[in-house]
Amino acid sequence: MKKLHIKTYGCQMNVYDSARMADVLAPLGYAPVDAPDGADLVILNTCHIREKASEKVFSELGRLRPLKERDGTMLAVAGCVAQAEGAEILARAPYVDVVLGPQAYHRLPELVARAARGAGAALDTDFPVDVKFDHLPAPSGNQGPSAFLTIQEGCDKFCTFCVVPYTRGAEFSRDAAAIEREARALVEGGAREITLLGQNVNAWHGSDGEGLGSLVRRLARIDGLERLRYTTSHPRDMDDGLIAAHAEEPKLMPFLHLPVQSGSDAILDAMNRGHTVAKFHEIVARLRAARRDIALSSDFIVGFPGESDADFARTLDLVREVKFAQAFSFKYSPRPGTPAALIDRQVPEPVKDARLAELQALLKVQQDAFNAATVGRTVPVLYERAGRNPGQLVGKSPWLQAVHALAPAAHAGRVLATKITAVAPNSLSGTIVDSQLDGGERRSA
Ligand code: 5AD
Ligand code: SF4
Repeated sequence: MKKLHIKTYGCQMNVYDSARMADVLAPLGYAPVDAPDGADLVILNTCHIREKASEKVFSELGRLRPLKERDGTMLAVAGCVAQAEGAEILARAPYVDVVLGPQAYHRLPELVARAARGAGAALDTDFPVDVKFDHLPAPSGNQGPSAFLTIQEGCDKFCTFCVVPYTRGAEFSRDAAAIEREARALVEGGAREITLLGQNVNAWHGSDGEGLGSLVRRLARIDGLERLRYTTSHPRDMDDGLIAAHAEEPKLMPFLHLPVQSGSDAILDAMNRGHTVAKFHEIVARLRAARRDIALSSDFIVGFPGESDADFARTLDLVREVKFAQAFSFKYSPRPGTPAALIDRQVPEPVKDARLAELQALLKVQQDAFNAATVGRTVPVLYERAGRNPGQLVGKSPWLQAVHALAPAAHAGRVLATKITAVAPNSLSGTIVDSQLDGGERRSA
């Protein structure tokens, strides 16, 4: 048995890809281990979205180098930094054995074999996304009650700050029948919740032009599957069918990550987001009309080039008006090759810092209020795995909140009505009130 350590950076698409890489290497005798020490192969599955994310890769490679010298560990760099900077990686870290982009994972065994033969570093950053999924093995079924399933890749939106269209390529939708087969295999392997993934997941469309709403309805018919989610969405692709699915499909969870980035029309325009602030508010109103208890999460960028104090104030206004259950916020980071990096009106770093702090303070107040509001309520929790303390399980509420409760291990994989009793900074605690409940999502009052 050979030891494989995969370290994953960035988004959930990378988490999914890392699992697929482990699956593709399993037939070659590679079994996953938790630490790089003593591993035969270490794969860094990298993220290029912000500058800090890609710099981390080079420092990690520096730390791994002695392992290679000591144990002969083979080093591979996968993911978006590999795609964008493959040649630079081999120049800066010539001891790396394999560099492969996100569309080349099915070729991993071949690349590893080639590097093992001492044929020099193997580099594959070709782009044909369609062949990848056809050549990957089915998921191994050890993913636990909550699984990811990539249904869409790539992005044609070209937001002016973003590298994704360059690293992940054009939008590609997987075939609905293949997605359903994979979903059924995941459920047979124990999944009760599936999160559909894509860089622009709601741009997914089937061969007849049907949208994500219809795919959700199709997958919701799978027996044993209790919850569906999807991420990450673009406001431009929130179509009527998808909004209607939130109203009509109880398995579709009432939580949506919908990045808005800014609350200023001028900045949204400069970002090439393709919608206005008013349009975003309209989408939120329609979602809330469809599903009263839907909670929203979002991404924000502060300090985009040219962002004035007034523009930033509008972002705060949008946040106050919408009220988010959760959010991610970032300082703008110029990415090589993107149009915004060339704008000369870059915002000074201290201004970005101050805006980020102010925005995050406001978002934190909203998140705490949202979590506090669940105390005293009884909500359905999908228990996933052992919690921090003995005898505890941890699971997720419909709104993606982590919930800890005392429960026997056999309750993992079940949706159980749970009374929320307390709130901690990053999780809730509760008491299971209905341990008979097995399956069948309960809607709380
Ligand atoms: N600078 C800062 N944040 C960025 N994001 C994407 N590109 C950049 C960048 N150049 C953020 C966006 C996106 C999230 C995944 O990362 O908010 O929604
Ligand atoms: Fe990047 Fe914009 Fe595409 Fe999202 S929609 S991946 S932010 S270019």
